[in-house]
Amino acid sequence: MTVQTATQPDPTRKIIEECKRETQIRYKSKGNTFFRARMRGVNSIQVGKSKIIDSPLTITLEWIFQKYRRLRKARRRFAAELFPRHPELPVGHRDSRLVGRIVFAGDRGQGPPIHNLHLEFWGRTYWFAWRKISEGRTDAKGYFALPFPLRAARNLSMRSLSLEIQKTTRVYFKDDAPHFHCDLFKAIPVAKSDLIGLDYNLRTIPLDYWLYDPSAVTPRAVVDDSGSPETYSQGREDALIEQVIPLEITKIKHLKQIELAPDTLTVEDIENDYPLNLTRCIEKRLPDYARGYTRGDDWFGERMMNGMNRGSFVPDAARPGHYWIRYFGVCWYDVNDLYALPDVAILFKLKDDGLPIPLEIRLTGQLSRSDHDPFHTRVFSPADGDAWLQTKRVARVTGAFCTEVEEHFAGTHLNTEQYAVAAYRNLRLNPVAGLLLPHLKEVSLINHTADKELIGGYIPTASALTRAGLQQRTRDILSLQDWRGWRPMEAISPAHTCAKAESLFWDVLGEYVDEFFRRHEDGIKRHWGEIQRFADDLVTHSVPVFLTAPQDAPPPDPRYQELAAKRLNCYSQQYGFDPHLPRETIHGELKTVSRITTASTYGAAPPLDWQNLKEACRYIIMQATYMHTWINEHQYDDLGEVRYSCGGLRFGDRPSGIMAPESDNDIAPDLTRSTQMLWFTNFLSRTEYGFITRNEERDVDPLLIRLLEERREKFKALEVDIDAIESRINI
Ligand SMILES: [Fe+2]
Repeated sequence: MTVQTATQPDPTRKIIEECKRETQIRYKSKGNTFFRARMRGVNSIQVGKSKIIDSPLTITLEWIFQKYRRLRKARRRFAAELFPRHPELPVGHRDSRLVGRIVFAGDRGQGPPIHNLHLEFWGRTYWFAWRKISEGRTDAKGYFALPFPLRAARNLSMRSLSLEIQKTTRVYFKDDAPHFHCDLFKAIPVAKSDLIGLDYNLRTIPLDYWLYDPSAVTPRAVVDDSGSPETYSQGREDALIEQVIPLEITKIKHLKQIELAPDTLTVEDIENDYPLNLTRCIEKRLPDYARGYTRGDDWFGERMMNGMNRGSFVPDAARPGHYWIRYFGVCWYDVNDLYALPDVAILFKLKDDGLPIPLEIRLTGQLSRSDHDPFHTRVFSPADGDAWLQTKRVARVTGAFCTEVEEHFAGTHLNTEQYAVAAYRNLRLNPVAGLLLPHLKEVSLINHTADKELIGGYIPTASALTRAGLQQRTRDILSLQDWRGWRPMEAISPAHTCAKAESLFWDVLGEYVDEFFRRHEDGIKRHWGEIQRFADDLVTHSVPVFLTAPQDAPPPDPRYQELAAKRLNCYSQQYGFDPHLPRETIHGELKTVSRITTASTYGAAPPLDWQNLKEACRYIIMQATYMHTWINEHQYDDLGEVRYSCGGLRFGDRPSGIMAPESDNDIAPDLTRSTQMLWFTNFLSRTEYGFITRNEERDVDPLLIRLLEERREKFKALEVDIDAIESRINI
C-alpha cells in the first residue's frame, strides 16, 4: 500500500485530472476529402439511422448537386453585381402612396400587428435594372404608407413592381456596436396599371412570421422542415456534419449487428467503439487496488456537486454541514411499465476538503414489478454493502434523467425559446435586439429536432415516462422559470467550484449588460415600444405557475398533494423561483414570466422598468449560454458509460427489480438503447459550434469577450475553460 504525504499528489487525483484533459472535447476541422461520408444537415439527424450519404455514386451526385447550388448562388451574386440596387429614391413630387397593414397570420386570418418592419418598394426595368421607388416601415399598429412619385412607378421603362418585406436575419458587431442585416422575407407584386394616383391600398397582409405554434403546450415557434422561420448558419451545419459522421457510422454498425447477430455484441463492445469518456478513462488508468473508484462515495459526492447534475444542496435543518439533494421520479406523470424511476433523496455531509460524501439514500416508489406502492420508502446507507452500490447507481440514474429532461431541456432549451420567439417577433430597431438575438438564434430549430428525436423518440423508449408524460413534465418545469429574482446557485464550500464559476459568469453578465445599457441608453429608450410588445408576448404566452392551473394539479390523494408541495419547495430553490411574487393573471391563468414593462414609451415607464429590462436580459443570456453549456459539456462525462449511469433502469423480471448489480443485463439498457445513448451524449457534447470567445460569426459583442478574457485565469482555477462556453443553444 502506498502512503501519501501532504506534499505528494494523490495518484487518483492525478489520474482524474489527466482523464479530464484526455477526454476533453476539442473541435478540429479534419478538412474535406472527396469520398468522406456526409449528411444533408441537422434535420437529417435521427435516433435510428440518420440519412447518411456514404456510397461513392451518391457522394458524386451530391457533389454535383452542391456544385450546382454554388453555381446558382454565384449566378445570383453575379446578377446582383450586374444589376445593383441603388439606394437613391426617385426625385419628383410624391403624389401617390402605397398603403396597407401587416399583421401576424392568425387563426381567422388576423393576428396582432407587426411594427417596425422594414419595407421597400422596387421597380424593375425591361433591361432588368432595379429602381428603388420608396421605402419605409410599419407603424405601431402595423400600418404603412410609402409615398412615391407616380411618374417614377409608371415610367414606360418599368416592367414590374413589388413591395418587399424584409426581416432581420443577422446581428453583427462592428466598431463595438450592433448592426442588423436584413433579407427579403416576402415580395408582393404590385400591378403597374393599378397605380392611378393618390393611395394604392394593399389592404391587410397576414405574414407567417415567427408565429406561435397553437398545438404546442409551451410557447414555441412554428417551425417547418424547410427551415422557417430561421435557418442554421452554414458554419453550424458544416461543424455538426463533420463531427457527427464518425458517431453515426458507429451507431449504424451497431444497429445492423443487433438486427443480424445480437449475440456477437455486448454493452462493453459498444462502449469501446465510442470515444473514451471520463469514468471509463479513470477506471482504465487506475491501478488494480483502486479499481471501482468511480463507484465509490467520494466520486459520487464530487460528481453530484460539480458534475453534469450540479445538484441543488438543501441544508438539513437539524444538522449543520449536512445537506439533502432530491430528484423526483415518476410523480403523477404518464409512465410505461418497463422502466423504474423512483424518487431519490440523498443526505450528504461535507468532508474537510469541502466535497460532499453520501451518508444515506432514500428511494421512494416502485423498484420492481411486484412493488405496487408508489410511496414505499427504503433507506440505505454505506453499511448495506452491495445494496449501497446499487442504490447509488439508482440515484445517479434518476439524477441524470432529471438533469437532462428538466434542467437541460425545459430549463434552458424551452425556457430560451420562449424569449427567442418574443424577441424575433418584436425587437427590430431597439438596440436590445443586438444584445439578445445572437444568443437566441437557432434554439427554435434545435428544439424542433428534439421534439421528434428526443421527447418523441429516444427518451420514451429509454426511460419511464411516455411522450405525453414528458410533455407535461417539461411544461411543469417551464412553469418555474422566471427572470425576476433569479440568482446563481450559492457555493456551500470552497470546493463547490460549479457554483463559484456560475457566480463568476453571472458577474460578467451583470457588468456587460450594465455597460451595454449605458452605451445604448438613447436607442433603448427611443424604441421602448418594442420592449413593451416583447414583454406582452412573453407574459401572454407564458405557461401558468407550477400547480396553479386545474389541469396541472396533482391527483387528489393527500400523499400526492404532499409530494407536490415538496416539489414546489425544492424546485423553488433549484431554479431560483419565488412562487410568492406578484404575477399577472390572464384569462384565469397566473402567468409564470414576470412583466418587464406595461408602458409603451420610456417616458411613461416607472424607473423600475429600466432595471427590469436589464435583469431580464442578463437572465436570458445566462440561460442561453452558461447554464446550457454546463450540462451540454458534461453529458458525456457523466452519461458516457452505460452501466454507470443512463436515463432509465429496467425492472427486469426478478423480485429484486433494479436493486441488482451493474452486470445484470436485464436491468441495464438493452443494446439498442446503449448505442443510442452513447451516440446521443457524444453527439450533443461534441458537435458544438458558436462559442463566445471564438466568435465564429462575429455576432458576439467584443465587450463580452473582453470581460470574459479578463477572468480567464479565475475561470481556469474553477476548471472552466472560457473557450468552451457557447454563445447560443444550437445542440
Ligand atoms: Fe442542449
